[in-house]
Amino acid sequence: MPTSTAPGKIYLFGEHAVVYGEPAVPCAVERRAAVTVEARDDDRVVVEASDLTLDGFTVTFDGSTADADPELDVPTRLVQSATGYVEEAVAQARDAADAPDAGFELSIDSEIPLGAGLGSSAAVAVAAIDAATRALGVTLPREELAERAYRTERAVQEGGASRADTFCSATGGAVRVEGSDCRRLDAPELPFVVGFDGGAGDTGELVAGVRALRERHAFAADTVTAIGDVVRDGEEVLADAPAGSPADESTLAVLGGLMDFDHGLLSALGVSTRSLDAMVWAAREAGAHGAKLTGAGGGGCIVALDRTDETERALRYAPDCVDVFRAELATEGVVRT
Ligand code: PMV
Repeated sequence: MPTSTAPGKIYLFGEHAVVYGEPAVPCAVERRAAVTVEARDDDRVVVEASDLTLDGFTVTFDGSTADADPELDVPTRLVQSATGYVEEAVAQARDAADAPDAGFELSIDSEIPLGAGLGSSAAVAVAAIDAATRALGVTLPREELAERAYRTERAVQEGGASRADTFCSATGGAVRVEGSDCRRLDAPELPFVVGFDGGAGDTGELVAGVRALRERHAFAADTVTAIGDVVRDGEEVLADAPAGSPADESTLAVLGGLMDFDHGLLSALGVSTRSLDAMVWAAREAGAHGAKLTGAGGGGCIVALDRTDETERALRYAPDCVDVFRAELATEGVVRT
């Protein structure tokens, strides 16, 4: 039975604006979703998710219907969104393997909290498509895997999706995404600290909210462009730092300042929350070089840059923070066993 794992990610810069063609720099981090798949003799799809940071749940749905209604005792919105990604991933796997009637047993085990800005849906989509196609005897090149995972997200997220999360999860490392131009970056080692408020945002709704704001107000469109400018400046700083070695203090200071600016622009677009802001300020006051929300916002995670233990300690005692960890860059994307 093939198992594929794929990493989550944090955004150093550029979430939301990337949906409108601005560049973004996400970095894969060592928190993974693992999906094990066995092909079935019929066309049914059975999903067992022991840990999507929900209580364990098992979903059975008929592979041919998109409107299956699993009986579950966990929050409906999160489950609908999780099963939506799995359903679309199954459709992509069937298409890639040219097996429209294939049925599967999928077992999902994820270390990435759902809807928290760490790319859980992208990691599950990448790992599920990869393991399901391999269960049918087809191994996809990483580029195709990333593209099919992107189509999965685009089908589920009302308001649109970018290729950033899915490309980053399939490829690993620090990446740069601008429209359909996706590439790996040679980046220095960065000391990421992640704080999690225990909450979740609905990526589709948040993207739709920014889209509406951008269509209504020229200054919101300018804010999106300004995020792109932050990313372009950040890329220059990354390019000047020696790849693979720890970033020096002056590089961290400039990158941190740009992260702070990016967070301010994301707040202006309405995607931050009181608890995300509180964690950002706890990190800054502890001496972090910079801090920002990561991902869609609406609750979930922040990311800060700090080589010392001070930010971790401050976040551990911050009332809004339920989990804090140092995030290692995941240099490998999808891993197959
Ligand atoms: O919160 P996440 O991990 O789903 O990240 C969403 C990132 C957005 O830029 C808001 C949307 C996208 O598809 O790029």
